[in-house]
Amino acid sequence: MPLEIVRNDITRMKVDAIVNAANNTLLGGGGVDGAIHRAAGPELLAECRTLGGCETGDAKVTRGYRLPCRIVIHTVGPVWMGGRHGEREQLMSCYRRSLALAAEYACETVAFPLISTGAYGYPKEEALAAATETIRAFLSDHDMTVYLVVFDRGSLMISRQQYASIREYIDDAYVGPDFDQRQMARRVSNRPPAAILDGVKYDAAPVAAPRPHRPRREKSVIVSAEESLDDYLRQQDVGFRDMLLRRIDESGMTDAECYKRANVDRKLFSKIKNQPEYRPGKAMVLAFAVALRLPLSDTKDLLQRAGYSLTHSSRFDLIVEYFIVNGRYDVFEINEALFSFDERLLGSVN
Ligand code: AR6
Repeated sequence: MPLEIVRNDITRMKVDAIVNAANNTLLGGGGVDGAIHRAAGPELLAECRTLGGCETGDAKVTRGYRLPCRIVIHTVGPVWMGGRHGEREQLMSCYRRSLALAAEYACETVAFPLISTGAYGYPKEEALAAATETIRAFLSDHDMTVYLVVFDRGSLMISRQQYASIREYIDDAYVGPDFDQRQMARRVSNRPPAAILDGVKYDAAPVAAPRPHRPRREKSVIVSAEESLDDYLRQQDVGFRDMLLRRIDESGMTDAECYKRANVDRKLFSKIKNQPEYRPGKAMVLAFAVALRLPLSDTKDLLQRAGYSLTHSSRFDLIVEYFIVNGRYDVFEINEALFSFDERLLGSVN
């Protein structure tokens, strides 16, 4: 996945490059800097001594020594002084310079800490926004996987207000597994088998439990009386891959625009396109639905063609649904919310 937020200790990341949030001397310090020097061993400090320090917003490269990465990119973030002293521009420059060096050193995978958000006091939410904006701009014309590594469990990536609003949506719509099964049994046994032929309303996702109050009702697929059974069945025959490509054409996006918006990497997209037996994960199918700005009914349709469904007994499903019904189709914004709820992210393989 091109941009992924993970919770980890950056010194454990098996990537081509890790980025160090250093200071102007490049001679070590506390926080992530201290952890990187401890894990790399004294040879790292010896090489750092030869670099002559580093300007704020700039970056320099050393080897990785005992770390599992090939190189370390040392960058110096701004000290937060209230936000009116060019901090954002300097922070973005850290990410830009580090990514440029990663590309120069032919790195395919790079891990960043949230630069400046520890000792240097940059507010986490704003730092994350600056980081993702810069990384996304870079990824629009580079093939690389970038990890944003968040260390402490407590750090909330989205605002409290946003968190509360999603929480409320989940609480209103969530149904436990028992409830779901009961609903499923009732619906399946009640549905007349001739419903399609009669041209009456047919639910796109017949097994989904109905939502209690707040969330809007999904649109249903109406099979008009004029539409022949043949047309209907032909439509049902279209598999996920063909439907995805059809939707991309309809959207006016190029393939690359679409898979980048979906946070899906180029190799996986070409697998979907060229290997009919390849089955994408649910998170990837949903990422495409979001990238294509599909309404909920079409999202469910696309999922169904890949063998999945949305349920109200999964927090992951409900969070994605929250964004779709609110017309907010930014995969990265959704991922920040998913991350805050400790859920897996959109765009990944599973
Ligand atoms: N892995 C990933 N992230 C980490 C780790 C780790 N092992 N350890 C801390 N973080 P900071 P800064 C997070 O203070 O704000 C040093 O002394 C941490 O939770 O390391 O840029 C330098 O020498 C926080 O979110 O860096 C400088 O003097 C983020 O990394 C100064 O601190 C950055 O916190 C730089 O301050």
